[in-house]
Amino acid sequence: MQSQDILAGNTDEVLPQLINAGGSPGGAWPKVLVGVFNNKIISGGTDLPEDFEHWIIKFPAGNEFPDAGPLEYAYSLMARDAGIMMSETRLFNTTKGDLFFGIKRFDRNGNTRFHVHTFGNLIHSDFRIPSQDYDHFFRLVTNLTKNHQDLIRAFRQMVFNLFTHNRDDHVKNFSFVMNHQGEWSLSPAYDLIYSSGPGGEHSMTISGEGKAPTKAHVTKLGDNHGIKKKMIDNIVEQVSDAVNRFQIHAQTAGVSKSTGNKIVAHIKRNLDGFSRT
Ligand SMILES: Nc1ncnc2c1ncn2[C@@H]1O[C@H](COP(=O)(O)OP(=O)(O)OP(=O)(O)O)[C@@H](O)[C@H]1O
Ligand SMILES: [Mg+2]
Repeated sequence: MQSQDILAGNTDEVLPQLINAGGSPGGAWPKVLVGVFNNKIISGGTDLPEDFEHWIIKFPAGNEFPDAGPLEYAYSLMARDAGIMMSETRLFNTTKGDLFFGIKRFDRNGNTRFHVHTFGNLIHSDFRIPSQDYDHFFRLVTNLTKNHQDLIRAFRQMVFNLFTHNRDDHVKNFSFVMNHQGEWSLSPAYDLIYSSGPGGEHSMTISGEGKAPTKAHVTKLGDNHGIKKKMIDNIVEQVSDAVNRFQIHAQTAGVSKSTGNKIVAHIKRNLDGFSRT
């Protein structure tokens, strides 16, 4: 499967441009930077014509789920349902029937660029060697953004990652964006999908626990960072409600029954483990 298949059905003219696009923004899966305007796609990475927006399209190579595109899209719907801020997402189909996940870039607005750093880059931590706890991440969120709302967003993402079994929560899967006044904020969420993580554990531990974090670990961390108990309870409730609606989002996204059932089993186990005292 070639990434440029995505252009099939569009104009022959733009095909050579996308083949040359390259410029992968990193990460495990191959991906392309493109310009999107409704159903038109052109090569991205550089400035785009008016009306086009900068997007990233991912091509799941060797993912354990053949329908990883729809699955990541279902996760994005579930994340929004859980109150998580995320750029616009959608599926891109090819004439071959492939469905690829795409996300609008948060480091561009039209052709205006924003300075972005991943958490890993900022602390010079190699994402391949898990060494961080959400505690370290939250400290940087507070120090850099000086905004309690950003800390709450980070906390909500942690709860989402725990319940939805997104254990690929390494230091490059969190970023900070600087605005043109030089102020940092936590970036919108990205790369949210089921993932078993290194040795089956979370890449970033939650109060030191990577395998089976419980409510006690989550609450302790929120508490240490000054998040009120009522807020912690609200977030946990909102996220678990959305996560319990996974099947609805999976259906909307066209996730297969077999993939959906596997995810539901993991979600159930995580929610049960969370409630354990
Ligand atoms: N919406 C976005 N806007 C701007 N940059 C993004 C966006 N989504 C992802 N990125 C950047 O692209 C990189 C790769 O994306 P992503 O993490 O989704 O891919 P991946 O291949 O699944 O990564 P991994 O190696 O974590 O499995 C991210 O680390 C991030 O720096
Ligand atoms: Mg990633």
